[in-house]
Amino acid sequence: MYLITLDSETDFDGWRKAARAFALHHVAPADVVWHVQGQTKDPGPGLSEAPSLPPIETESTFTVPANFIELARIAILHRDDERFALLYRLLWRLKADHDLLATMSDPDVAQATTMAGAVQRDAQRMRDLVRFREIGREQKAHYAAWFEPEHHIVAFAAPFFARRFADMPWSILTPDVCAHWDGHAISFTPGISRTERPPPGRLEETWRRHFQPDRLTTTEAPVKRQRNLEDASILGPLLADAERWTGGRIVQRPEAPMTRKTAADDLEALREEAAHCRACHLYKDATQTVFGEGPKNANIMLVGEQPGDKEDLAGHPFVGPAGQMLDRALEEAGVDRKKVYVTNAVKHFKFVPRGKVRLHQKPNTPEIRACRQWYEREVSAIQPDLIVAMGATAAQSVFGKITPIGKNRGRLIDLPDGRKALVTVHPSYLLRLPDPEAKVLEYQRFVEDLKIAAGLQRKSARAA
Ligand code: URA
Repeated sequence: MYLITLDSETDFDGWRKAARAFALHHVAPADVVWHVQGQTKDPGPGLSEAPSLPPIETESTFTVPANFIELARIAILHRDDERFALLYRLLWRLKADHDLLATMSDPDVAQATTMAGAVQRDAQRMRDLVRFREIGREQKAHYAAWFEPEHHIVAFAAPFFARRFADMPWSILTPDVCAHWDGHAISFTPGISRTERPPPGRLEETWRRHFQPDRLTTTEAPVKRQRNLEDASILGPLLADAERWTGGRIVQRPEAPMTRKTAADDLEALREEAAHCRACHLYKDATQTVFGEGPKNANIMLVGEQPGDKEDLAGHPFVGPAGQMLDRALEEAGVDRKKVYVTNAVKHFKFVPRGKVRLHQKPNTPEIRACRQWYEREVSAIQPDLIVAMGATAAQSVFGKITPIGKNRGRLIDLPDGRKALVTVHPSYLLRLPDPEAKVLEYQRFVEDLKIAAGLQRKSARAA
């Protein structure tokens, strides 16, 4: 009997190395006990560390299908203690039956596949549910979230958050391990016990207790640093393959988690979810989330900056002065507003109070990024052919980066997902122009830009 102790619950490389050595030495699965360092569970009476195996003869080698390695990489993140043994049993059996993974009715194949599916779903749950709260002072803003994963998915899912919230330093605290992003690299520190789970509204205290910024870099140095998004590039192809070996049952890839059609992308469910959004601090002062509106089958999506004072109170986009200007221009351009979906890059009103007035404030990059998930999920639900970005904030959200209006306006631009984008000015810009002549000219240009959208609306009406 051999006892093998892995470095951690997610020590895939350790498992792989040991499994390969055991298989080459014809050590049957029943003769191996898998254990994780630091695990309190006793591996069994009388078990000592595996005696060193004799050197592997060069001719004794074997290959396993690449998709097994990929399946194992994900299934190993499952919390079931039996996973290491199950995966070694599969490896052992693959030596004799190279096509074993194609037999979905095989209990070992089915169990490993089910485990990988559960891991995937848990990672998706994390991507859907993690809500960052702003903690710390303005200049030292930090965003933190608490999450309790079912499986060992934190390191697996962290690159997604690094990509999506690349501009904001964040920490995701979990009982297993805490992940941190400083804008350059992901690092990990030990988890926070469930007994210290932050009560609602007390996340900042827990974060401070464990991760005072100076402690993080000195006494509590991260246990592991992961090079910037290194994992993300590994995970893309890996998960694509995961779909293959499960016959398409694992459907979510981390690189495009919000572009799928799921129940969560049902507009009404999205609207409800967004109503409780705490992804940035803007919800605190705004009256409500102002979500997009329009028909589900709209082929044009108009994107503005953020709700204004009137929209914040009414709960509908573009109903104030900018909305009236937009309505007029759409009509002149020949676009039927009732057939377009109208939304904003940022869904809460950002303002500073001045006496009785609330003065509009432009949203900053972290706020735009924090809100982008809703825009992406609206796009996923509506599937528009054309997205019209009105103003710089909308353009930043639509293109995922700062995109100058002047250089890009008035022409159709291909988006990576195959849709078209059109950039133009924001109607509020026209309202603010002091010179009446410039106002007329700029308004005409705005209408001309919208005529491009009108052309597309006419074309698809003909095609329908
Ligand atoms: N400005 C916007 O960008 N959106 C609105 O909904 C209103 C004003």
